[in-house]
Amino acid sequence: MPKQDFSTSTQPDMCVDLNGLTLKNPITVASGTYGFGREYAEWIDLNILSAISVKGLTLEPREGNEGRRIVETPMGMLNSVGLQNPGVHYFIENEIPFLRSYDLKIIANINGNTIEEYCQMAELLSDADVDSIELNISCPNVKNGGLAFGTNPAVVQDVVKRVRKASKKHLIVKLSPNVTDIKEIARIVEAEGADCISLINTLSGMGIDIYKRKPFLKRGNGGLSGPAVKPIAVRMVYDVHSAVKIPILGMGGISTGEDAVEFMLAGASAIAIGTANFANPLAPKKVLEGLTQYLKQYHYDAAKKLTGDLRI
Ligand SMILES: Cc1cc2nc3c(=O)[nH]c(=O)nc-3n(C[C@H](O)[C@H](O)[C@H](O)COP(=O)(O)O)c2cc1C
Repeated sequence: MPKQDFSTSTQPDMCVDLNGLTLKNPITVASGTYGFGREYAEWIDLNILSAISVKGLTLEPREGNEGRRIVETPMGMLNSVGLQNPGVHYFIENEIPFLRSYDLKIIANINGNTIEEYCQMAELLSDADVDSIELNISCPNVKNGGLAFGTNPAVVQDVVKRVRKASKKHLIVKLSPNVTDIKEIARIVEAEGADCISLINTLSGMGIDIYKRKPFLKRGNGGLSGPAVKPIAVRMVYDVHSAVKIPILGMGGISTGEDAVEFMLAGASAIAIGTANFANPLAPKKVLEGLTQYLKQYHYDAAKKLTGDLRI
């Protein structure tokens, strides 16, 4: 097929709306893979991004897990970083002013040992200059034997209800893929007042060093991310899109414009790039350009028209 020139076609409208959180384009970066943007700012113009979901915040600073934290796998990686971060107070005082010097939305990713901790953070952030709170429900629930909040429908209902009450900010709830029925969880999250759903967080995985006969990661298992999880993530975005009306921020293995298109056709209104940033700090630029070219090629005048536009 002869190569077509799309450079002259009109620029599509890239703006998308996540139910009150307006983004200048659908490209964001995923929590825990972009720090607070500082390291990447040396490589890429952060103004390209429509939003950054910052490193997972906790009430108090955390050192993270001991031992090896990252393992490469075929088509992805396993991590057990353990939420190393400077704490929510430090973030408010020192990182928000830096991020505000860029034209992007700030999403504060919050993590708690208990529901009370989640609520305290949501309250603190209500008065801070952030655009949205992303409630990460993949954390272990200390009062419930360490089982992740996001795997038990009754606990999901409780945590979302209480965080919703604790803050007036735009609220994204980030789902764990390590569940039997993702639609059931999504419906609960919507019913409890979330403005938006993000998914997927990492899948539980394990790798073993056969020469030492020990798991690579000190804790045994870790979170699998990268291209290996993409088909699971696309399926889950599709399922959630069929189950709820609130918008979806999709992620899991996205590294190209085509990947972003796939997620949007499955039902995502915007996407986040995670693991791909480690291999290529320019990944968000590449994804934005690829998505724009696709929209022009297939005559979409607006990015939002791609969402759920699947022919089945
Ligand atoms: C090293 C690492 C750290 C992460 N930390 C967080 C975190 O703090 N909070 C969170 O909600 N998700 C965290 N995630 C999950 C990502 O935000 C994302 O949901 C997941 O990796 C899937 O996207 P990807 O395959 O593009 O990386 C982390 C992922 C990685 C690889």
